Amino acid sequence: MADRFGHALVIGASSGIGEALARRLAGEGTRVALVARRQERLEKIAREINAAAGEQRAFTFVHDVLNRDEPPLLLQRIAATLGGLDLVIYAAGILYRPEDGEFNTEKDLEVLEVNLLGAIAWLNPVAERFAALGHGTIVGIGSIAGDRGRAGAPAYNTSKAALATYLEALRNRVSRTGVVVVTIKPGFVKTPMTADLGKLPGAVSADRAARLIVKRMHRRAVTAYIPERWRLISWAVRAVPSWLFRRLGV
Ligand SMILES: NC(=O)c1ccc[n+]([C@@H]2O[C@H](COP(=O)([O-])OP(=O)(O)OC[C@H]3O[C@@H](n4cnc5c(N)ncnc54)[C@H](OP(=O)(O)O)[C@@H]3O)[C@@H](O)[C@H]2O)c1
Repeated sequence: MADRFGHALVIGASSGIGEALARRLAGEGTRVALVARRQERLEKIAREINAAAGEQRAFTFVHDVLNRDEPPLLLQRIAATLGGLDLVIYAAGILYRPEDGEFNTEKDLEVLEVNLLGAIAWLNPVAERFAALGHGTIVGIGSIAGDRGRAGAPAYNTSKAALATYLEALRNRVSRTGVVVVTIKPGFVKTPMTADLGKLPGAVSADRAARLIVKRMHRRAVTAYIPERWRLISWAVRAVPSWLFRRLGV
């Protein structure tokens, strides 16, 4: 296992998995930059982290990932504030599930803007910075939802499939520079995103997910299913032929 991370940036740190990751990393002694839109939430989380640490370990930066020209400068500001940067996690995401018969282009495109284009706008400058330094870890929070196109959330599925492909390509681009790129594919996690979806099979808490994700980051996993049993489930789901998948209506 690699040493703990010294300085981390979590984009999408104001709730759910990103918040749990920020808290866990700070608990290991990492100085963490928390990025999201909701300033009050970020400040509350930072206050709690800093009180628990007995020193300032969390720093907040309000940012909307739709503002894709901001990451290069914000990245420099964050690294200067933290005193370095060796881990960046892109956890920002939204889920939109259309009603039967609803085809809402505006909402579908917003899902792609947040889950995919925001990730590219952040992780390109991060990769450039890390490649020049010759080290650093980049983590993208994908989803098992990206492993198959489903009737329930087409743009979400698409965003996560494309994110996984982008992360694979990024990993290949920086493979000779010492930079590590980790793709995380959680199954169901109990967070505000899934709060309205009813009972979800095998759902884990955000804390448990964060603990498993941090472990896999330290081990420099390429693609980590969270928890690991989803790898087998995903393999089985991908093996179902299209005609049958369509009839199952999932
Ligand atoms: N929960 C699950 O079962 C599950 C499973 C697989 C993958 N995931 C993925 O895990 C990641 C985290 O999801 P979660 O379940 O923790 O959801 P969540 O609790 O709703 O958190 C989403 C985070 O994304 C941020 N975000 C959304 N839109 C943003 C924007 N325009 N600009 C900046 N930040 C934005 C939110 O912050 P603000 O609203 O404050 O901006 C929040 O911090 C997502 O990528 C999601 O797709 C979740």
